[in-house]
Amino acid sequence: MIELNHVSKTYTGKGAKAVDDLTWTVKDGRITGFFGPNGAGKSTTLKMICGVHSIDEGSIKINGHDIATDAIEAKRQFGYVPDDPDRFLRLTGIEYLDFMADVYGTPAERRASCVEEYGKRFDIYDALSSRISDYSHGMRQKVHVMAALIHEPSVWILDEPMTGLDPKGAYELKEMMREHAERGNSVLFSTHVLETADALCDDVCIIARGRKLFNGTLDELKATHPDTSLEQIFLEMTSDE
Ligand SMILES: Nc1ncnc2c1ncn2[C@@H]1O[C@H](COP(=O)(O)OP(=O)(O)O)[C@@H](O)[C@H]1O
Ligand SMILES: [Mg+2]
Repeated sequence: MIELNHVSKTYTGKGAKAVDDLTWTVKDGRITGFFGPNGAGKSTTLKMICGVHSIDEGSIKINGHDIATDAIEAKRQFGYVPDDPDRFLRLTGIEYLDFMADVYGTPAERRASCVEEYGKRFDIYDALSSRISDYSHGMRQKVHVMAALIHEPSVWILDEPMTGLDPKGAYELKEMMREHAERGNSVLFSTHVLETADALCDDVCIIARGRKLFNGTLDELKATHPDTSLEQIFLEMTSDE
C-alpha cells in the first residue's frame, strides 16, 4: 500500500507546482494505473514516492513506512522501474542484476531463479552476458524490470513500463503485474496511453498539471461518462484544465 497525504512539489526555478496537493491511496491486491498527459506530474510523483526527489509539502508512506523519515525500510518495500532505461550502460545485464541483488542482500537461489524465470519470459536470457549499451530500448527496459523485482518487493512502481517493449514483452509484463496483484501486492504504473487501462487496471488515478482529476475504480470512471470511450473520457477530463 502507498499513502500520499497532501503532497506538493515545485522544481527550483519553476513557478507552477509540478505536483499540487495530491492525496491518494494505492491499494494492495490491485493494479493501479496512473494516467495524465505529458508533463502532468506522473514521474515527479513516482520519484517522490521512491525517495529520488524530495517532497516539499505533505508525506508519503509505503506499507506504513515514511519515505522521508524511515527511508531505508520504506525503500525495502518497493521495486522501481524509472522512465529512462539508459542507465548502467557499461555493465552487462547479469552484472547489473548481480549488483542490484547485492544492494538488497538477495540470496543466491532467488537471484538465479529470477534471472532464469524473468530472463526467459522476456526473451533476454541469452543476451544477459552482453553490455547494456548494446541493448535496444526494449531490452534495457526489460533488464530494469528484472532488476527492480529481484528482491521480491511487495510494491511495484513502474514509470511508463510498456514503452519500447515488443508485443511478447508487453504481454509478459502485464501477466506478471496481474499475478503480483493477485497475490495481494500493490502494482502502480504510469502511462499516457489509455489502451492498456481497460484490460489491465483495477483502479485509476488521473492527474493534469499536478492536480488530481479522478481517483477510483475503472468501473467508477466509466460510470462518470456512460457510453463514452475511455479515450474520450480522458480527453474530456484533461482538456477542462
Ligand atoms: N528535473 C526537473 N527539473 C525541472 N522541472 C522538471 C523536472 N522534471 C520534471 N519537470 C517539470 O515538472 C512537470 C511535470 O513533469 P513530469 O513529472 O515529468 O510529468 P509526466 O511524467 O506526467 O510527463 C513538467 O512541467 C516538467 O517540465
Ligand atoms: Mg513521465
